Amino acid sequence: EASAPHVFVIMGASGDLAKKKIYPSVWWLYRDRLIPENTMFVGFARSDLTMKEIRDKCQPYMEVKEAEQERYEQFWELNCYVRGSNDTQRDFELLNQKITEVGTDRANRIFHLAIPPSLFVIVTSNIKKFCMATKSGWTRIIIEKPFGRDSESSSKLSNHLGSLFKEEELYRIDHYLGKEMVQNIIPLRFGNQIFEPTWNRDNIASVFISFKEPFGTHGRGGYFDEFGIIRDVMQNHLLQILCLVAMEKPCSTAADDIRDEKVKVLKSMDELMLDDVVLGQYVGDPEGEGDAKDGYLDDPTVSQGSATPTYALAVTKINNERWDGVPFILGCGKAVDERTVEVRIQHRDVDGDLFHGQTKRNELVIRIQPDRAIYYETYGTSYKGAKLPLAYERLILDVFCGSQMHFVRSDELAEAWRVFTPLLHKIQNEKPKPIPYKYGSRGPEEAYKKLAENDFKYSGSDKWSKPSHE
Ligand code: BG6
Repeated sequence: EASAPHVFVIMGASGDLAKKKIYPSVWWLYRDRLIPENTMFVGFARSDLTMKEIRDKCQPYMEVKEAEQERYEQFWELNCYVRGSNDTQRDFELLNQKITEVGTDRANRIFHLAIPPSLFVIVTSNIKKFCMATKSGWTRIIIEKPFGRDSESSSKLSNHLGSLFKEEELYRIDHYLGKEMVQNIIPLRFGNQIFEPTWNRDNIASVFISFKEPFGTHGRGGYFDEFGIIRDVMQNHLLQILCLVAMEKPCSTAADDIRDEKVKVLKSMDELMLDDVVLGQYVGDPEGEGDAKDGYLDDPTVSQGSATPTYALAVTKINNERWDGVPFILGCGKAVDERTVEVRIQHRDVDGDLFHGQTKRNELVIRIQPDRAIYYETYGTSYKGAKLPLAYERLILDVFCGSQMHFVRSDELAEAWRVFTPLLHKIQNEKPKPIPYKYGSRGPEEAYKKLAENDFKYSGSDKWSKPSHE
């Protein structure tokens, strides 16, 4: 064969992320022939598992159709499992042997680190020592958040990774960057003439980027309590969306040209203060059903009396010529009234208003979830038809192709932490009491007050309904 084989290694193959996201994603990529046919998959984890057991764990997430059964069997034939411990050199030598055995010594190697952050350092060190492609092939490392918990810990991690790998070898996943509508922001802004001329402080009053989830921490409280909603969603997913909405036109669509522009946005932002945010924590709704009866503090994995916010709204500003004075408001909440992720761009009120304030604020909505849509007032449009790959699938394919456009570069990450670190430290030290909001409510009223103060006219949940042809 002319083309080099690929070996895709899943570190943490027995874990939740592996079975829910990674195995299904690589199976879909293989099924749809999007990755090279001569790709082999190696799982690595501590547990004493057989390939059959891993397959059974993944089964509920694989979505295999009748007609795909044969291909599905072929997929599993390309898989093998190496049992090993993350801190035993010998096990990494064995892993390396296995990779070489299934992929030859010419193979390109991708390591997807689906492991807890406490293992990042040891596992990457061992990969570097024992498992890198030595001949013609390349090695790429996919890492998952959390990338530290503040500027200092993140830069420690970045320095460690930087001492082992080149930036071109590192793929920091923010899975929001793999979502269809997030990837559409750049073409929407720069690929047509409609929006860009008004995309500035002269015409835009405020921007609200909001994430809402109708469920609580669901037994993930242990992890969540350590991190809180700001680290879990705002500092990464929402800030990435903000960068795409606010950045200047890149000089090309090359990954680094785009990432350069995103970094510039972050550099133009001040560190946040406590006054810029509203923090909330959900409490049980005695009239609610099932989980809704329980508040955050009722989760047994959450520390007693925890002040960790499950809701946060932050008003940020971008100090550059395009955006000076325009509030960019980030909001995210768990256990609220709906499941939506959207960007709402509100235009300034028109001068000489014919309608005496009777019209709604002009608002462009980019809806990322649950349905994908861009709509303006009553105008609605939606993408339908062809199967769209999911975020993870897209991003993993990018790693095969060596495209870093939708991954977070280390300087970008450092800037993102800079914006949030003083605030996070303040919250950590002063433990301001988060405002209670009821499970299933729209979140604390103070957040809506803050929106109003920042020139965002919230008009309730004007749910966009799908056109009837769908
Ligand atoms: C993850 C967060 O990064 O994103 C979760 O850790 C959150 O708390 C999830 O639920 C949301 O992702 P999605 O793709 O379901 O919107």
